[in-house]
Amino acid sequence: MTHELKYMPGFGNHFATEALDGALPKSQNSPQRAPYGLIAELLSGTAFTVKRQENLRTWLYRIRPSVLQGKFEALNYDSIKTAPLGDDHTSPQQLRWDPMPEIKGEANFIEGMVTVAANGDAAMRQGNAIHLYNANRSMTDEYFYNSDGDYLIVPQAGKLRVKTEMGLLDVEPSEIVCIPRGVKFQIEIPAKAARGYVLEIYGNHMVLPELGPIGSSGLANARDFQSPVAWFEEKEGNFKLISKYAGKFFQAPISHSPFDVVAWHGNYTPYKYDLKTFNTINTVSYDHPDPSIFTVLTSPSEHEGSANVDFVIFPPRWMVAENTFRPPYYHRNVMSEYMGLIHGVYDAKPNGGFGPGGGSLHSCMAAHGPEAAAFDKASSEELKPQFQGNTLAFMFESSYYYKTTAYAMESETLQDEYYRCWEGLTPTFNPDKI
Ligand code: FE2
Repeated sequence: MTHELKYMPGFGNHFATEALDGALPKSQNSPQRAPYGLIAELLSGTAFTVKRQENLRTWLYRIRPSVLQGKFEALNYDSIKTAPLGDDHTSPQQLRWDPMPEIKGEANFIEGMVTVAANGDAAMRQGNAIHLYNANRSMTDEYFYNSDGDYLIVPQAGKLRVKTEMGLLDVEPSEIVCIPRGVKFQIEIPAKAARGYVLEIYGNHMVLPELGPIGSSGLANARDFQSPVAWFEEKEGNFKLISKYAGKFFQAPISHSPFDVVAWHGNYTPYKYDLKTFNTINTVSYDHPDPSIFTVLTSPSEHEGSANVDFVIFPPRWMVAENTFRPPYYHRNVMSEYMGLIHGVYDAKPNGGFGPGGGSLHSCMAAHGPEAAAFDKASSEELKPQFQGNTLAFMFESSYYYKTTAYAMESETLQDEYYRCWEGLTPTFNPDKI
């Protein structure tokens, strides 16, 4: 088993796992001599002194400590950008992109990543960035860690094997995987190619949203999150340790695999979640709840209720609302909304243009809603209970408005005339008829 432990983001679960019997010290974090001659090392994901409930840290028992690495030198990954971004490519326009074209040449997960938008300031640990990845080569001799934030990866096509210091996680489209800041990882592409979306979270780690009047169960249930069990390899060679730090990339030689953690305990760990297990909650009477009802995970800001960024899904679900305009309502939002489509059709945009692997961005106060044909259909069709099964869309929704990159605004995938999808909306107002 590669992922049998259960992990509850942000609620202080504590795991203990060992790949060799007796590798975990008993009742002590850093004994004078750890079992099997292992070295104890602490990885802290929050400040030492944050509240117990928010405290994230893991003790690693490894063959070599992480200090055994060479000297970092600058490395260039032009396509990956980090906030703060400049204003050169920013626009209030509604934006939409076709899926990324098929990859040319070879690229691993990092080489094949490109930034669409970002907000906040990574060095202040505030905000987030949205990237796409398109990879056809496994990382083999390169080990990577990101000092700037957590990666929440949303595969859209192709499986990924995520190798980390804490163990292995296999993910496929309709699942997500989170790799916390600082955790070293490699991504293998088991099939021909893989592509998807990445949310890089500079701010607070993702947690499950509060449930309020929903009660003790519902939405993403804690028991469905999975973390890896301890796994290690003893491997020597000429490898590269790549780090992203304050928006820049660096490379240092390393002569061993850093996946040499034989045992670990703590609560700072990668995890995966299958979106198919989401317990979808919606109206059973009338009207359309705000999309926050579909929040899977949230990265809180310092202002309670105004997220640094939420991860929200629009999963298969029954539509039963009576006397109601069922698709998403027209709106303008102080929060900025990036949407992607994992598979199927999104109900506000059924007529093409928003395909699996594509994306849209409605930034702060950008007007949006169903396209003309979707409005006409939803305003007049008979409202039978309907199962909307062929869909899995998601949204990264942030309190801070996004600035877009040169790639996003100059890419051949940008749909210049996206705004025209609303042109067919003509007034039906008639002062003589209620
Ligand atoms: Fe919206």
